[in-house]
Amino acid sequence: MTEHRLTLTQHLLREVQSGAASADIDAILAEIATACKEARAQLAQVGLGPLAGMQGAINVQGEAVHKLDWFANNLFVEHFEGSGLLCSLISEELEEVHHFDDDCPSAGHTMCIDPMDGSSNLDVDGVVGTIFAIRRKATEEHHDKPSQVYRPGTEQLAAGYVLYGPQTMLVYAAGGSVHGFTLDTAVGEFFLSHPDIRIPDCGSEFSGNLSRLAAWNPAFKTFVGHHSHGGDGEPYSLRYIGALVGDFHRILLRGGVFFYPGDVNNRQGKLRLLYEAAPLAHVAEAAGGAATDGAQRILEIVPNALHQRTPLVIGSRDEVNAIQSLLAGATPAAVASKGASS
Ligand code: AHG
Ligand code: MN
Ligand code: MN
Repeated sequence: MTEHRLTLTQHLLREVQSGAASADIDAILAEIATACKEARAQLAQVGLGPLAGMQGAINVQGEAVHKLDWFANNLFVEHFEGSGLLCSLISEELEEVHHFDDDCPSAGHTMCIDPMDGSSNLDVDGVVGTIFAIRRKATEEHHDKPSQVYRPGTEQLAAGYVLYGPQTMLVYAAGGSVHGFTLDTAVGEFFLSHPDIRIPDCGSEFSGNLSRLAAWNPAFKTFVGHHSHGGDGEPYSLRYIGALVGDFHRILLRGGVFFYPGDVNNRQGKLRLLYEAAPLAHVAEAAGGAATDGAQRILEIVPNALHQRTPLVIGSRDEVNAIQSLLAGATPAAVASKGASS
């Protein structure tokens, strides 16, 4: 008899039975999965239909909006409107909080979402993804106020992403282990394929837009030089696919480090805290890795604006710690000896 394949729904029901997760968080995760199946169906043929190209609008980030950015954003609004699951939604594509009309008590959760991460890859059939985090509404403030999410990422109840690649994978953590599910497109179900994912303590790849190296803190140049061929450290490979969710997923499975630092013109870098850095930091730490802004844990940063950005260094614990030590002024030799002794 073939081994029983566990669907996402069966997995979530077992998590509730065991007390590892709450029923309303599981219902939200199940609805996210359904919405992402619809997103994937559109992605698989975007070049053939009306969703190719640009929306013709500029979003709050000052970035041109792809039609699929907007489609994915509206998909999540539609899936949760009237569901009684969420009181509000914070989206990369919406300047303000979207509050749902549900006033039932269970609608005590807020979701932060990057509906389509890596949009610049859309026109070249590259990897893209959806990143999400579920938070409890933190204050009695009405749920259309941004301040409901001005709490540290340590308060996220669950977080994860869906990766639209050759396969479609859903990866999440809800305070415990990190689990990965792969979509069986013939059946239309996500099946558990990567139970209890752990990030290797160290890897052999670094990931960053090295065209910006000269504008970053010199510690990044030191780290890259140290791990480049001809450097005096272990030579790493460079992997950078321009979609945070795809670069992070590779690191989650193989180890290594991704960095998007600030620079002299953009001290907070490019990536957004609430719906990019904090959700992935939740997953990284749950898998035994680390995520900082170069100085402090991403999960301890308290937001004071919906779309605030943060520098990000995320991945294997050893590499994140090594970069943090270099940023604090340590020499590569000191960092290497510390790594050897850890
Ligand atoms: P989004 O498409 O949601 O705006 O995110 C794009 C982000 C992130 O996915 C990626 O790591 C980064 O932009 C790439 O930035 P550069 O093009 O500056 O390297
Ligand atoms: Mn993004
Ligand atoms: Mn996006």
